[in-house]
Amino acid sequence: MKFKEMVLAVCLVAAAPAVLATPATDELFARYKAAGASSFDAERGMKTWTKEAKSEGGEMMSCTACHGNDLGKDGKHHKTGKLIKPMAPSVNAERYTDAKKIEKWFKRNCNDVWSRECTAQEKGDVLKFLLTK
Ligand code: HEC
Repeated sequence: MKFKEMVLAVCLVAAAPAVLATPATDELFARYKAAGASSFDAERGMKTWTKEAKSEGGEMMSCTACHGNDLGKDGKHHKTGKLIKPMAPSVNAERYTDAKKIEKWFKRNCNDVWSRECTAQEKGDVLKFLLTK
């Protein structure tokens, strides 16, 4: 590759809109791997995100129940109606910047939706998926 092409290629990569990782998600990916997860996959994460299960309240729901189907838009809490800011880091720069916050909500939301905690694998896959948005 000629030098000019190389500069162009580097610029194109730098201009890519997807976030793909933050220091907080790097930390969590490492932690999930240490907990036994293998590599993480956005496609599998998308399936996990939209998987319907019987919630504690007895109704069928998935993560989209509150976060909506378009992650670039506001979500809405399915019970309280409270607005939830967009989950896509491309429109909401505050997303996935705090490992403690991410873990806190995984714990609460997974229990709400699946009546159990998410596994390290599920959390890593879902984060990979969310980071592409
Ligand atoms: C009952 C409503 C509800 C459901 C269902 C729900 N969430 Fe959430 N989620 C919230 C609220 C409320 C917040 C915190 C407010 C915010 O971050 O804007 C949140 C925040 C999060 C965060 C933190 C994001 C960050 O910025 O760090 C993650 C990760 C998350 N949810 C994942 C999930 C996953 C995975 C599922 C499905 C298993 C799910 N949520 C289902 C209501 C919900």
